[in-house]
Amino acid sequence: MIYRSTSEDETVTLGEQFAKEELHVGDVVALRGELGAGKTKFTKGIARAFGIHENEVASPTFALLNEYPIQFHDNSAGHLYHLDCYRFERDDELLELGVEDYLYPRHAITIIEWPERIEKYLPAERLEVTIEHVADTKRTITIHRLTA
Ligand SMILES: Nc1ncnc2c1ncn2[C@@H]1O[C@H](COP(=O)(O)OP(=O)(O)OP(=O)(O)O)[C@@H](O)[C@H]1O
Ligand SMILES: [Mg+2]
Repeated sequence: MIYRSTSEDETVTLGEQFAKEELHVGDVVALRGELGAGKTKFTKGIARAFGIHENEVASPTFALLNEYPIQFHDNSAGHLYHLDCYRFERDDELLELGVEDYLYPRHAITIIEWPERIEKYLPAERLEVTIEHVADTKRTITIHRLTA
């Protein structure tokens, strides 16, 4: 599916809709796009779908990982993981984080900014979201699910 956004608010709303319609427990989202494309804005929308205020969501560039407790649509409890791999240079950083928990979430959903940095570790089954910076405030957002 291809969506067009003309403002940051629209990108947040698209993230929220995407989460409500497409995301299920166990999903991993590879969120691609250049610096400033709107990956974190889109993630704020995903978080909003789970009742997390957007002010709580920031690019976890220094933390590498943000973790939010959430409730899924079936009322079961779990987490939203927001991973930013921009600073990853060495493979062992990921191992230190504990790959399994985040790339194969059991009671969670994982959103990954800069998935290119850990391409070879990404699970075959995942959602691909690519945000293209078209102009000023215009973005094209492409979403598809990869199945094994
Ligand atoms: N249509 C739009 N959608 C999203 N962001 C937009 C849009 N138009 C302008 N912007 C601006 O682009 C920037 C997007 O920032 P954001 O932090 O979401 O990018 P990012 O892809 O996460 O970057 P990084 O790789 O640095 O983490 C914000 O400053 C936002 O205001
Ligand atoms: Mg970001």
